[in-house]
Amino acid sequence: MCGIVGYIGAQPAVDILLDGLTNLEYRGYDSAGIAVNVDGQVELYKAEGKLQNLKDIVNAKKSHIEKSTIGIGHIRWATHGAPTTANAHPHSCNCGRVAIVHNGIIENYKELREKLEKQGCTFRSQTDTETVAHLVATKFAQTNDLTEAVRLATKELEGAYALCVIHQDVKNTLVATRRNAPLLVGIGEGEYYVASDVPAIISYTKKAMYLDDNQIVTLTPDSMKLIDSENNVLSQKIETLPWEPVALSKMGYKHFMLKEIHEQPDVVRNVLSGKLKAIDEPIKLNEVTLDKDKLKDLNRIQIVACGTSLHAAMIGKYIIEDFCGIAVDVEPSSEYIYRKTITDKNTLVIGVSQSGETADTITAVRQAKKQGSHILIVTNRPDSTMAREADSLVPVNAGIEVSVAATKSYMAQVISFYLLAIYMAEVKGVNNFTELKHELVVLPQKIEKVLAHKEDIQTCAKKFSSAKDFIFIARGINFPTALEGALKLKEISYINATGYTAGELKHGPIAMLDESMPVLSILMSGKVYDKILSNSEEAKARNARMIALTDSTDEKLNDLFESIIRVPEIDELLSPALAIVPLQLLAYYIAEFLGKDVDQPRNLAKSVTVE
Ligand code: M6R
Repeated sequence: MCGIVGYIGAQPAVDILLDGLTNLEYRGYDSAGIAVNVDGQVELYKAEGKLQNLKDIVNAKKSHIEKSTIGIGHIRWATHGAPTTANAHPHSCNCGRVAIVHNGIIENYKELREKLEKQGCTFRSQTDTETVAHLVATKFAQTNDLTEAVRLATKELEGAYALCVIHQDVKNTLVATRRNAPLLVGIGEGEYYVASDVPAIISYTKKAMYLDDNQIVTLTPDSMKLIDSENNVLSQKIETLPWEPVALSKMGYKHFMLKEIHEQPDVVRNVLSGKLKAIDEPIKLNEVTLDKDKLKDLNRIQIVACGTSLHAAMIGKYIIEDFCGIAVDVEPSSEYIYRKTITDKNTLVIGVSQSGETADTITAVRQAKKQGSHILIVTNRPDSTMAREADSLVPVNAGIEVSVAATKSYMAQVISFYLLAIYMAEVKGVNNFTELKHELVVLPQKIEKVLAHKEDIQTCAKKFSSAKDFIFIARGINFPTALEGALKLKEISYINATGYTAGELKHGPIAMLDESMPVLSILMSGKVYDKILSNSEEAKARNARMIALTDSTDEKLNDLFESIIRVPEIDELLSPALAIVPLQLLAYYIAEFLGKDVDQPRNLAKSVTVE
């Protein structure tokens, strides 16, 4: 979603701001802007659409703008007000002396706006953020102190915010604060950076301090002061960021998505490393702190997640129930938080999130925590807000994922669920996982084989790229694979794709089948193979264009299916981890063939930080 960058130091701020925003572009946005202080004047530059539009405006006045060594920048994903230049950040006050960028939502902005308008503030946008700019300006007029103005202003705000503020009259000072939205300060030599996410600043510094809720940081080129909302000075916890700038390079691939799909064999190896040491040894999950006796007493598990993470959670349900015999419910976080949920100290609540910043999932786990449940977070970002809510953590180690469409993080989540399910079963005394552990160890080679034959999938993609709709069918443990395959396709190609349990097809969806409808059957060997084959026959009888994704070598399939995507043979229980790879590739090649913006699909954001 939105992204923030700030800089104060001795270098031209503009280059650092634009570079930082470029590295946040992957998050999805629809307008951008910066504010700088040139010769004692705060100046705002904004543009709707791609960041390049802003760069063009800025570059035309570069020699003027680069005199500023302080600035704030923002990419906006519209929530309040259309994605126009007027609504783009930074926002300012009547006199134009304050500039502010904001991530999150100010929930009481209507009341604040009404009050501020009565006091004479003139609003130029439809955003919730502009209220903060006017509010800070009002408080500054009373205190003549920017930190105090921000502190007093935030006391009146309800909702979520990460804010970065500069003021024309307080040269060489940048103030930042947050509540329920991430923000960190990067520390250089005689300079500081502010960012809503690591990629914005990782090429400048690895030394950083994460802000906690309600903390306010005041930066000058050579000082950093941290206070809480009551004005108490706090000690600073400086850490070294565990990221490498190289993660933000496409490394020769046309898109980040393709690169990330290809990283999956190594992602599996990484996830297993240190946790699955030998197939005859129990799984080790050091950051799972749930007491072993309590684990044995669990009567219920609830898993909350959104989107792709929800699909990984559905596989988690299947295997935890199978291996451990504990009932598991999986629910979209956005539903979980709006109903009465029944949890207690014998309920384990698992939050799954690539980013660890998905607002609905954060709210869901906080809600469960209040009810006394142990919270286990499965995330790719151990530095995230969600990870900080965790009693137990399963870091999935996929490395930074840039493409909006999640691929390698899904793989890492799925593999982490296998480890978690086996770990829990072993604690409960079930010990028959030698074969599955062996399958996990050889999985990366099988994925490599699929990747080595990607041209076949590319051919299939081309053949079906003119379809307006797509149906994916599967049963059992691969039903989530069908949902995820369909989600990947619709996300990046905008083709209407739906996943169904194959048995449900004849209860309604079959009415849609004709010669224009591709039906992709996920036909992995195992107990539901024959059933899906029959369902595929039923679809074929309605003239659907049949595609199979299978590990079977049965020649008879050639009569039923127009195209067959083959993968190496695999244990049915682990098959979702292999079957998803060709579906990711299929979606990728269809979108690429259609000329879509694969890494930054329209309307989507990498992390959805609003409910
Ligand atoms: O960061 P999270 O895993 O919590 O994000 C949840 C969804 O927004 C995310 O999985 C989304 O569905 C992906 N873009 C799918 O590719």
